[in-house]
Amino acid sequence: MVGSERRYQVFLEARSREGLRRTLNDVVARNARIVSVGGRSYVNLTSNDYLALRFHKALIRRAAEWAEAYGVGSGASRLVTGNLDLFAPIEAKVAKLKNKPAALIMASGFQTNAAVLQALFDRSVLGAEPLVFTDRLNHASMHFGCQAADLRELRYRHCDVKHLGELLSQYGEHDRPKYILTESVFSMDGDVAPLGEIAELARAHRATLIVDDAHATGILGEEGRGLSGDADIAIGTFSKALGSFGGYVACSETARDYLVNRCSGLIYSTALPPPVLGAIDAALDLVPSMDAERAQVANLAQRFRDGAGAIGLGTGASTTQIVPVILGSPEAALGMSARLRGAGFWAVAIRPPTVATGTARLRVAFTAAHDGSDVDRLLDALAEEDLPRQASAM
Ligand SMILES: Cc1ncc(COP(=O)(O)O)c(C=O)c1O
Repeated sequence: MVGSERRYQVFLEARSREGLRRTLNDVVARNARIVSVGGRSYVNLTSNDYLALRFHKALIRRAAEWAEAYGVGSGASRLVTGNLDLFAPIEAKVAKLKNKPAALIMASGFQTNAAVLQALFDRSVLGAEPLVFTDRLNHASMHFGCQAADLRELRYRHCDVKHLGELLSQYGEHDRPKYILTESVFSMDGDVAPLGEIAELARAHRATLIVDDAHATGILGEEGRGLSGDADIAIGTFSKALGSFGGYVACSETARDYLVNRCSGLIYSTALPPPVLGAIDAALDLVPSMDAERAQVANLAQRFRDGAGAIGLGTGASTTQIVPVILGSPEAALGMSARLRGAGFWAVAIRPPTVATGTARLRVAFTAAHDGSDVDRLLDALAEEDLPRQASAM
């Protein structure tokens, strides 16, 4: 074994000892509600497909039609010959949904954050290293974008406007461009950033507000616009409530033009393929009219929070379709995950480093494919003490 392989092995063994080793499970999914793993079916509590659009006939039909008509690949990056004429109308729909002058779509939400943030924070263009104020619990892809820009994030306590205000004042005299970077709905907590107050601070300190609206677009806000209305720049993904794949940034025309010229993740990556564009396009047509599904999901999540509270389980500050059941140790989370598997529910244990030490949890996500009886049976299973144990993990 060469030296580097040995080191990887040591890393994996340490992860195993700490109860933090990840494995990939083979999953069969034929609809938005059920997953089969190891030949057994479970109600899926892990999906970000909040509107159950992944199997929606309209998305499947348009993906198939566009594959048939335009092929399964785009053949090149957008700056070469991959910028199929399918992009412009879709980007107009994204800009309209997000209420911004322009939009640009690229490969994935992760790639969008990684590459767009790197480009926006480019000190060689800005003339100085920008001051970037970030929520401590921001998604890994946002940290990645900051790291790629080689800057030191100025992290404020999670959703703590007072702390953000103090940091902004502390750095007030600096004549460097300022940005505030936050998620709207936090992916592991299901809580919502105080975006109105953050936007006020951004205005007062002449900072640009960038909001990752990944877990709100489609499922929250009027007509599913998400919660990024106050942001100067909204980033997000089509892989969650919109059911398929791909990332977007909604911004000014100037910022869009700049990104076309500077964003490596757009410039050096093959354009999204036509079937994916078809699915995105169909989802954008459907989302504004899906109020009934949005209300259903919100009601299910509230019913679950109420029930979990009644049996003494902590769900943190969740107010959305994402409801964590915070259990503390990795072992406790793995044990609860196993218990739920025994009862026919698939809910993975989320452990450090994805979440802070001492806050390992189950992350339960409700979708329009669930119903009230799923919630009630889930609560019964959580309340039950001695169902069979079988580890499942992420
Ligand atoms: C807040 C947030 N931003 C970005 C992403 C990445 O999006 P994608 O899965 O499309 O790469 C995720 C989830 O994976 C997320 O939770």
